[in-house]
Amino acid sequence: MAEKIRKGPLAQLGAMAREFVRRGPAETRPLGKFAVGSAKVAHLLESAATGVRAPLPGPQFHAIAQLKRPISASTVQAPEDLPAKAATRSWSSAVDSASEVVGSDQQSKRLVDPKELVGSELSFITDNLARLLESGHPMLNTVSQYYFSASGKHIRPLLVMLMAQATSIATKRQGRTSMLVDSDVDQIDYSLMDRSVSQNIHSDSESQRINQLIENATKNGHGGRPYAPHVKEGLTILPTHRRLAEITEMIHTSSLLHDDVIDHAETRRGLPAIQKTFGNRMAIFAGDFMLARASMALARLRDPEVIEIMASVLSDLVDGEFKQLKNLEDEGAPMAQPDESAFGYYLEKTYLKTGSLIAKSCRSSAILSNSTDDIVEAAYVYGRNLGIAFQLIDDLLDFTVSSAEFGKPVGADLKLGLATAPVLYAWQEHSQLGPLVARKFAGGGDVATAWDLVHASQGLQRTKQLARQYMERAIEALAILPASSARDALEQVTLSVLTRTK
Ligand code: IPE
Ligand code: MG
Ligand code: MG
Repeated sequence: MAEKIRKGPLAQLGAMAREFVRRGPAETRPLGKFAVGSAKVAHLLESAATGVRAPLPGPQFHAIAQLKRPISASTVQAPEDLPAKAATRSWSSAVDSASEVVGSDQQSKRLVDPKELVGSELSFITDNLARLLESGHPMLNTVSQYYFSASGKHIRPLLVMLMAQATSIATKRQGRTSMLVDSDVDQIDYSLMDRSVSQNIHSDSESQRINQLIENATKNGHGGRPYAPHVKEGLTILPTHRRLAEITEMIHTSSLLHDDVIDHAETRRGLPAIQKTFGNRMAIFAGDFMLARASMALARLRDPEVIEIMASVLSDLVDGEFKQLKNLEDEGAPMAQPDESAFGYYLEKTYLKTGSLIAKSCRSSAILSNSTDDIVEAAYVYGRNLGIAFQLIDDLLDFTVSSAEFGKPVGADLKLGLATAPVLYAWQEHSQLGPLVARKFAGGGDVATAWDLVHASQGLQRTKQLARQYMERAIEALAILPASSARDALEQVTLSVLTRTK
């Protein structure tokens, strides 16, 4: 029987699809989507027929991995019909404006409000963060919680939770040994994530007191039900996913505390920037403190793979900021045109400073759902492409929206000496930008000249087009996940990134 199924027409179709994917047509939707889907059918069929979970299906993995390769940014052209002007924020207009890119199947899709789908989970986050950041020092509490007093967009925790839901119904990995990850979630004692891993580190009374403070505070989180999974429409968010969402937001906010010192920022989230209020030293220490608490919470998830992945985000963030600073220090001779390596460097930096956290928190979310490797990889590739698109739009908005709307200063990148995608593209058209880029816009009138040249060029449209290409790849990566309202919501968030104005 098993042999019959394995050799049957469906399995053969799947095998053909695998070969098809292996040869690389996954770039062309919807054929790529079909092929990935068929390969998945074949895999499931094999698993059902043999009674054992087949090892990682290579071609499927290969198809997803293809979506990681770099896009040749320097050759991206602005479409005639794509205005640079930032569009409205509504979901429907986001879908309308992007549907021509991602195919007409978008229009027939049910519109999902992503925030409604994760429900109360997101609304708890600010309170829970305050609990996780509880310290014995009132001033430290005030400084480290400063940016949480103005509501951020919470896009990163939202993605973690949607990915949790979307992967909750996907294929499960066998043989995991982590204490808080198992196929049978009813058997897990989630209260472990609020308990110390080591029994002996809290031997002195002060550290015992602080530990007790965190334990009690976090145990009372989530409306008093911190260890109950959230189930909606048959999709599950586990308590560990919630904690991962909180850790992700702490890492993000900590990077902002450091970044605002590096960038001499004036405002953030509509407030005076942290160091304007508390000074550089407090801002840096509050950022460090937040990372320390995020690391403790991470260890308490008791999953070495997730700990390693999320720890690598911390070094990626520093690497990204370092690449940016290093670029600023390099005194290159002015070039007539940016070469491919200038775009490559910019995109690598963009991945490190923004893509990595989104990509790896999505990956970790899939791991906490105990997903198979192909699903985990798809979650990563989704986040990676979305993260790069997100930062490309951030760099574009620096030229197009008002400071009041953005909640932080605009035109800031030029003032910092940074040549982001809009400038690199403008430079391809206007070679007189070369010397300005080389001297980091430090000459009198440089910032205004560069600003005007960017607006007189196709730089903004081409940046948006590049972001679209990354966005498409993000959506492509989702095709391997089973259809669900969470998957639709992930698509929706992706589309909205392209039309966001803050
Ligand atoms: C933000 O970088 C901080 C990180 C992603 C590490 P930017 O300096 O480019 O962004 P804003 O404009 O200050 O938010
Ligand atoms: Mg910066
Ligand atoms: Mg900054």
